[in-house]
Amino acid sequence: MRTFLRVHAAAVAGTALLFGSGVVPAWQDPATASAPREIDVVASRFAFEPSRIEVTEGERIRLLVRSADGVHGIEIKRFRVNRPVPRGGKPVTIEFTAAAAGEYDILCSEYCGDGHETMAGTLVVQARPK
Ligand code: CUA
Repeated sequence: MRTFLRVHAAAVAGTALLFGSGVVPAWQDPATASAPREIDVVASRFAFEPSRIEVTEGERIRLLVRSADGVHGIEIKRFRVNRPVPRGGKPVTIEFTAAAAGEYDILCSEYCGDGHETMAGTLVVQARPK
């Protein structure tokens, strides 16, 4: 029975990757064994630095996001990322798998002033070389 469950989980993970269907839960992520790629991001009025983050499809990502001024938020809808970033510079850690190639908006999800609506970046997930 245990063996069956394990095989089934592998099949589900394979299917998710094959069709690029989005977020793969950690328990069925074949890349879990490797360390995530860490990327430092600084949020400030009204930009993310870097504003463009490039990763590879299937890569596990760990974002360390801190604010250089007041409260911000970071949201990447496709990968169900949405976290407040507090004032004071303490980093928040966000992990996800970049499970689908494409370009995705990185948005500020906490009102931070007159430029809030324009505060955005781009996550570029390059297709994994075949
Ligand atoms: Cu930064 Cu809203």
